[in-house]
Amino acid sequence: MYSYELKCKTGPQWIRAVMADFDSFLIDHAANERKASTLAMSMVVHYPDKDDIVREMIDLAMEEMAHFREVIKIMLKRGLQQTPDKTNYYIGSFMKAMRKDPKHYLLDRLLMFSIVEKRGAERFGLVGEALIKPKIKDFYQRLAAAEYRHYELFISLAHKYYDDLTVTTRLEELLQIEAVIVKQCPIKAAVH
Ligand SMILES: [Fe+2]
Ligand SMILES: [Fe+2]
Repeated sequence: MYSYELKCKTGPQWIRAVMADFDSFLIDHAANERKASTLAMSMVVHYPDKDDIVREMIDLAMEEMAHFREVIKIMLKRGLQQTPDKTNYYIGSFMKAMRKDPKHYLLDRLLMFSIVEKRGAERFGLVGEALIKPKIKDFYQRLAAAEYRHYELFISLAHKYYDDLTVTTRLEELLQIEAVIVKQCPIKAAVH
């Protein structure tokens, strides 16, 4: 199993912001799950010739939709509604680092998704730790474990289609970029 560490940890200010406005966090979180599902389906459409990607990304799209459904249920119970999508600093900045040429496009996407999933796993873990009520605490702990699996899935797909040196070199670059973005990101009650 391939693994790596993120270059920086999420600070205590982030979890404080989330807990101070958990309703806003839930609304942003729901949108994140829906977008993760859409992105997985975009991979299915983009790589019809790659069986592993097609299979894994359909499963992933369904799992992210299931997460979306669960977050929406929590929101509805609290009387919360979805809000229109806003551009996200974290994802937007990360996308700018993606190379668009056919040779690198797949590698960059797989590595970026892996890093985003790993950051999600870290942050849902923090939310799970901070929450008190057992049902929702358990939900976030389950989500952290799921996003951790997704991080592993994307890094192993990267190694499937590219040689080790190509993967580790680019991974190192993208991890550095992600750490800079995380530090620049405005702290708010949102996943990123
Ligand atoms: Fe998810
Ligand atoms: Fe995920």
